[in-house]
Amino acid sequence: MILIIDFGSQYNQLIARRVREQRVYCKIEPPKIKAAQIKALAPEGIILSGGPASIYEENSPKVDQAIFDLGIPILGICYGMQYMVDALGGKVETAEKREYGFAELSIKHATGLFSGIEKKTKCWMSHGDTVGRMPRGFRITASTSNTRVAATECSAKSFYGLQFHPEVAHTPKGKKMLNNFLFRVCGCKKTWTMKSFIAESVREIGSKAGDKGVILGLSGGVDSSVAALLLHRAIGNRLTCIFVDNGLLRQGEAEQVKKLFKAHFKVNLRFVSSKRRFLKALKGVVDPEKKRKIIGRAFVEAFEKEARKLKNVEFLAQGTLYPDIIESRSAFGGPSDVIKSHHNVGGLPTNMRLRLIEPLKHLFKDEVRVLGKELGLPEDLIWRQPFPGPGLAIRIIGDVTQTRLSILRKVDAVLLDEVRRAGLYKKLWQSFAVLLPLKTVGIMGDRRTYEHIVAIRAVTSTDAMTADWAKLPHALLGRISNRIINEVAGVNRVVYDISSKPPSTIEWE
Ligand code: XMP
Repeated sequence: MILIIDFGSQYNQLIARRVREQRVYCKIEPPKIKAAQIKALAPEGIILSGGPASIYEENSPKVDQAIFDLGIPILGICYGMQYMVDALGGKVETAEKREYGFAELSIKHATGLFSGIEKKTKCWMSHGDTVGRMPRGFRITASTSNTRVAATECSAKSFYGLQFHPEVAHTPKGKKMLNNFLFRVCGCKKTWTMKSFIAESVREIGSKAGDKGVILGLSGGVDSSVAALLLHRAIGNRLTCIFVDNGLLRQGEAEQVKKLFKAHFKVNLRFVSSKRRFLKALKGVVDPEKKRKIIGRAFVEAFEKEARKLKNVEFLAQGTLYPDIIESRSAFGGPSDVIKSHHNVGGLPTNMRLRLIEPLKHLFKDEVRVLGKELGLPEDLIWRQPFPGPGLAIRIIGDVTQTRLSILRKVDAVLLDEVRRAGLYKKLWQSFAVLLPLKTVGIMGDRRTYEHIVAIRAVTSTDAMTADWAKLPHALLGRISNRIINEVAGVNRVVYDISSKPPSTIEWE
């Protein structure tokens, strides 16, 4: 295992990805971790990440200096290298010239991290400070025209420093350098596989849950589905999944979840049909945020009511992923084991005093998909596009009624069918329809119609933070429009949303 100390660089998750791609397990921990805790974790190596601070700033992040006495190889990247140099008695100075972007690296000693790498290669720099004097025992291993100490090493202790970023694609030999650290310096073995992850998780979940019951809110999305199967493998029927049908789902969705989990996987599934309760609560509500709040509250009530019927339940499981944990750390001061109200983001029971089990909390999304495949989840669920918790309610602009839901459901089914047929489903981040609270005039046969407009939204994205409207082929848009107007009564006009995020959002509400 490799331990990454998080000094706040935007590239931290990328370092973790690079390590795991080599089938070496890694963990990211905040700098407050103590050397004794690190020793107990027994990593093969430590990576000190980059970060936005200068080590001379008052509150610059620092890690327990005793880590340098643990006898564990250390790689410092950017701020991480400067921190190491400073901590071991060297000197870091403000550079005369900030260096940002590509630089030509001249390697002086092709040993250690640079084994097997040619003398001249490109690297990606982003720093204001620079190393002036190195600590005793260190030597310069590479320079650029601007930066004398672009890389340094103390091979006797297996300490290495890189001023540039080996984890980004702009450093073409960066992967080789990281691999040299993992395998030549640290002696890591390629043991991180999904099979080993499953075996270890099953053991861990089993020992944590003991003979107590665990409940999980199953939504039918990738994360909660994978979490359900993993827990099921670990504790069988001591897991109870609760699926709340809020009546705001897409066509056939609730039935699919039931069929797959109950009939196929034999998971203990409690199916709560709360359609009427949600619709009633939403009656006359037009404001998007109010809709969200009402749906969140109704979900918690329905979930809790069902959960209370169960005996011996002490744990609540959730499909939280690694990026959620890393991102929520600074805001909440560290991951917590017991639910607090501020963790209530997904609409969790608040006063049930359940302990949390998050079996996916060390995985990235693509790893969750691989895990799902290993656990036997069907491809179409593994590659399901994201679907918001409030469901179709935030895709019906204005009042949410049974009639409008029924129209949108049909439209959505046609749209998804056409997108799938065109082989574009997996390429798009999301593709969906929005029902507008407007009617326009049309003509069908010889009759005048006065019916709804629907908008089609299809976007490409990698993380939903930014998104571009998808350049769907005109022929496909034509087929979608044709079929919707022909097949769905109540719609006589289809428009295509050509706005990107920002400034628009992906969902309309
Ligand atoms: P926006 O519309 O903000 O959406 O660009 C970004 C991503 O988040 C999803 N989304 C939600 N998911 N509850 C959810 O679980 C919500 O209230 C919600 N609102 C938006 C949206 O589908 C997109 O993937």
